[in-house]
Amino acid sequence: MWFYLALAVLLYFVIRSYRERQQVDNLREKYVFITGCDSGFGNQLARQLDAQGLRVLAACLTQTGAQQLERLTSNRLKTTLLDVTSTESIEAATVWVKECVGNKGLWGLVNNAGLVYPFGPNEWLTKEDYMKVLNVNLIGLIDVTLHMLPLVKKARGRVVNMSSIMGRLSTMGGGYSISKYGVEAFSDSLRREMHSIGVKIAIIEPGYFRTSMTDTQKNLDVLEQQWMKVPEQIKESYGQAYFDAFYKGVKDNLATRCCKDLYLVTDCIEHALISQYPRTRYSAGWDSRWIFIPLSYLPTFITDFVLTRSWPKPAQAL
Ligand SMILES: NC(=O)c1ccc[n+]([C@@H]2O[C@H](COP(=O)([O-])OP(=O)(O)OC[C@H]3O[C@@H](n4cnc5c(N)ncnc54)[C@H](OP(=O)(O)O)[C@@H]3O)[C@@H](O)[C@H]2O)c1
Repeated sequence: MWFYLALAVLLYFVIRSYRERQQVDNLREKYVFITGCDSGFGNQLARQLDAQGLRVLAACLTQTGAQQLERLTSNRLKTTLLDVTSTESIEAATVWVKECVGNKGLWGLVNNAGLVYPFGPNEWLTKEDYMKVLNVNLIGLIDVTLHMLPLVKKARGRVVNMSSIMGRLSTMGGGYSISKYGVEAFSDSLRREMHSIGVKIAIIEPGYFRTSMTDTQKNLDVLEQQWMKVPEQIKESYGQAYFDAFYKGVKDNLATRCCKDLYLVTDCIEHALISQYPRTRYSAGWDSRWIFIPLSYLPTFITDFVLTRSWPKPAQAL
């Protein structure tokens, strides 16, 4: 009985691997629009797809980012400026994409742009702090998708949304995890709606990677500024010792945890774009695959214990 079970599992993986290696045709004729290409995954993905011969339409937040990317890529790759928090900027980018793709439509939309700051224990934050992150990671992503969707439908193409393991497990306060849970929800409903139309939606869930978002010094500076803004009464309830321990926890985590192999993520996005049979969810990075995603399936009291056992205790803790 165990033999047949093992054989069935093996067969499943062999068939899955064979199916997933089937690529779509005419890659050189396919247009892919990527947001947030100034740095990190977006920048690497733009270069990677350009090298594969796809027609990359790279959106950068800054002129400098766009110029740097152009210098590193072929003249097939085109850039534009896009701030995903501005509907006017998204409208202008949509007109530009429409002109670039002509009758072909847009094969791939990669919603990659993102922001993590400010973060910290929820009580240290204001409504504006949450809005800042949600406007980029969630509302911006939805706005870009709604504008570009008619072009993607025309090509019967793909939408690839950048979530995170923080979209499966909420491990810190602030807008980031909330925004990524929202990305998961939006992607799930869109996938079900688009199924009959032939548009496929994929969600990418990376663990910790070394990009400007996880730059240790930048995160610590933001955290210090955040602590300075916390009202005195709340500060007292946490105490300076809590802040110091929290600060050290962030520092140690970011200094030791981040994987430098960004291709583990960009390869997942590439697969979602060019495989005949893309996955619905991609967990990218060993921490995502072997720690955080499995942890998200455990009973809540176990997950809570594992996640919080090393957290510092506020001054007013029981
Ligand atoms: N690094 C990780 O560990 C990790 C893990 C899971 C998920 N992710 C997700 O991966 C995505 C890419 O992040 P990354 O790690 O590559 O960090 P990153 O290097 O900071 O890239 C984020 C990009 O988004 C751009 N951006 C920020 N605000 C924007 C706006 N309003 N409009 C348009 N673009 C904007 C940034 O531009 P500037 O550089 O000019 O600010 C930057 O190019 C994000 O969605 C992030 O949540 C990252």
